[in-house]
Amino acid sequence: MRQIKFVDLAAQNAEIQSDVERELAQVHSGCAYVGGVAVEAFEREFAQFLGVRHAIGVSSGTDALRLALIAAGIGPGDQVITTPMTFIATAAAIHQTGARPVFVDVDPETCNISPRGLRRYLERRAKTTARSPRAMVPVHLYGLPAAMDEIETIAREFGLKIIEDACQAHGAGWRGTDGRTVMAGTRGLAGCFSFYPGKNLGAWGEAGAVVTNDDELADRIRMLRDHGRISHYAHQEFGYNARLDAIQAGVLRAKLGHLAEWNERRRKAARLYRKLLDREILKLPEEPDGAVSAYHLFVVRTAARDLIREALIRNEIQCGIHYPVPLHLQPACRELGHSPGDFPVAESLADTALSLPMHPHLTETEVARVAQTVHDALAGYRELLAGGLRRTATSSPPPPRRR
Ligand SMILES: Cc1ncc(COP(=O)(O)O)c(C=O)c1O
Repeated sequence: MRQIKFVDLAAQNAEIQSDVERELAQVHSGCAYVGGVAVEAFEREFAQFLGVRHAIGVSSGTDALRLALIAAGIGPGDQVITTPMTFIATAAAIHQTGARPVFVDVDPETCNISPRGLRRYLERRAKTTARSPRAMVPVHLYGLPAAMDEIETIAREFGLKIIEDACQAHGAGWRGTDGRTVMAGTRGLAGCFSFYPGKNLGAWGEAGAVVTNDDELADRIRMLRDHGRISHYAHQEFGYNARLDAIQAGVLRAKLGHLAEWNERRRKAARLYRKLLDREILKLPEEPDGAVSAYHLFVVRTAARDLIREALIRNEIQCGIHYPVPLHLQPACRELGHSPGDFPVAESLADTALSLPMHPHLTETEVARVAQTVHDALAGYRELLAGGLRRTATSSPPPPRRR
């Protein structure tokens, strides 16, 4: 039985081999390995792709978030709102600035921060004497852009700076009535991207970028990523070593030209999944009006998650769980003082979410085999349902948490 991969980097590399070889040969002959022409060229091209004034290459998505927050003036004593259903790096970057992450639960339809929950939280806070949060980091989780129209309105009202976590959302966006797409990462004060190898746009190592339309913020991030440097041995402030390598920039340049088409192929696979999978038992990812997902992940939700997962593994189909433990229940967040039940939507997602194979080189036959395996795995479960146990990810409480 041929294995179906969760992400197929070998197939991607085969498609871009000659482009990468050309880029790496240039880095090799130019002998500039940190920063330099390849990095500058990638920054220009990525900014152009997104339709934004500045892209600043940095060493990872985590550093992109950390530097964007610091440059936005966030530091010790501040609070920054984000969601508990994201990769740990979102909260870690907030913590690294000296600020405290504050969680607002996600919306059960989109898995992104709930604008209603956000408003409720801020209104409640406004009635207390406590200092209000100064910024928020909405995450475009799984590649689906967050509800930015509503988020922007609330942020303006409550004086919050927005730093977008677009680490899973390269090429995602919102399609306007004029047919033009505004890209995820370009609406906040800054947007942060990870180029970790498995991302929609991935390097061959660690890499990231901050994008912004704000000239001053861009200058500060350029300085912070490079030891606070303003000229060779003049350092304006203590900064960081968070620069982008030329080799990574070369790989990213070779891949960037393929990104739009690769995302289109992901969207096609997602449409086929939606056609073939059983909506009675699975809650499938949908795009709200105007949202264009980059389908970094295709995450279904079901109370029968573990049953399906075992069947996929038995049938040589790789899958994942994003994420099995919400951030507020991670040991790293213990000082925030949360307990189970604090963010019920995120907790339910952790118990029911299953990520199916998703990448641009997934074939229709492979999607069909995944869907058939899921269907077969659910045969017994359907009988149980028919026997009266009506329980789906949407209509009933999740199973008890294992801990
Ligand atoms: C939502 C999110 N935020 C931040 C990051 C951090 O990016 P990196 O691993 O490049 O530091 C990731 C990476 O997986 C992510 O998925």
